[in-house]
Amino acid sequence: MIYQTQTILIRVDPQVPAGDAIQQAAAILRDGRLVAFPTETVYGLGANALDAAAIARIFQAKQRPANDPVIVHIHVTNQFAELARDVPPVAYQLAKRFWPGPLTLVLRRATHVPANIAAGLETVAIRMPAHPVARALLKAANLPIAAPSANTFTRPSATTAAHVLEDLDGHVDLVLDAGPTTIGLESTVLDLTGETPLVLRPGGVTLAGLREIVPSVQMSPRYIEGEAATSPGQMLKHYSPLARVILHSGPREAVLRVMAQTTRDYVANGKQVGALIADEDALLLDAPVIMERLGSQSDLETISHRLFAAMRALDGQGVDVILARDFGREGLGAALWDRLLRAAEGEIVQVEA
Ligand code: TXA
Ligand code: MG
Repeated sequence: MIYQTQTILIRVDPQVPAGDAIQQAAAILRDGRLVAFPTETVYGLGANALDAAAIARIFQAKQRPANDPVIVHIHVTNQFAELARDVPPVAYQLAKRFWPGPLTLVLRRATHVPANIAAGLETVAIRMPAHPVARALLKAANLPIAAPSANTFTRPSATTAAHVLEDLDGHVDLVLDAGPTTIGLESTVLDLTGETPLVLRPGGVTLAGLREIVPSVQMSPRYIEGEAATSPGQMLKHYSPLARVILHSGPREAVLRVMAQTTRDYVANGKQVGALIADEDALLLDAPVIMERLGSQSDLETISHRLFAAMRALDGQGVDVILARDFGREGLGAALWDRLLRAAEGEIVQVEA
């Protein structure tokens, strides 16, 4: 079953959204229906987090399998008490340092929070977004809002309202359009329910940042191995353009030579090739390839901000294959690597010098 509705789009100021637009969105949420809204990471597809039927509509709209849990958004830290139990002190320390912001904490779920939000797990993932529109909506609705990224399952997350409509027109009641999101990659997901705090998904808050508050934080072992991972929603195929993505790792010049050769081979077979590429590399890649420049290699924030839009742009051009190279694994590089690896469905071309 898929959720069908008439979609309304309302433009709002990203800093000071109009009160009537926010009230209209809040009323839709209270009514158990769906609102797509901007956060600082990506657009979310929101529903009342305390209403199991509304949560079910999210899964139906996204065509998302029921085993992939959804994040709950809040606007004041004391909503912990409403949604989670046995909240450890580190959760408050992390919240104090990183909220509002791109960090999601996995805690033990309070019994009255619908189980379908967590795909039946005993836990619940909670985040306080920083975007003024998200904050205004949370406050007006006076509800915790369940929201996965506002894209169809397996597609790249939506970073503009146009991308939300590309995937969800006719399947979401209202879209609040506040322009492109700033960060562009999803939040870091940190599981605090085990003995060791584990990063389940790298994102806007880096490992080094987390370790300043909680030195014992580790990357999920499954993540490091690059396998399909702990929570079912972390299966590899995700964040995918329609085109096949080929991800390369290895010394820069050798990788660029391989990418050029691969391009020529595909073109010789009548295929169109695209590349997700840093500005510096674009100058060196000598091949008939459609380039989506992401920004300077030294500016991972800009690269993160543009990545998903660039994947969608290459799909829009109808390329058959997309070539990419890793951006290191430090800081935001870890999150970029994760998204590229999933887009490539785990396939890496390891290039020797
Ligand atoms: O930045 C973000 O996190 C965006 C914005 C809208 O807030 N949301 C987002 O949601 O990316 P989604 O549903 O696309 O990704 C949620 C991630 C998935 O990897 C899911 O497996 C994990 O969080 N997750 C959610 N609840 C969980 C839980 N109870 N235990 C473990 N992982 C969970
Ligand atoms: Mg998602």
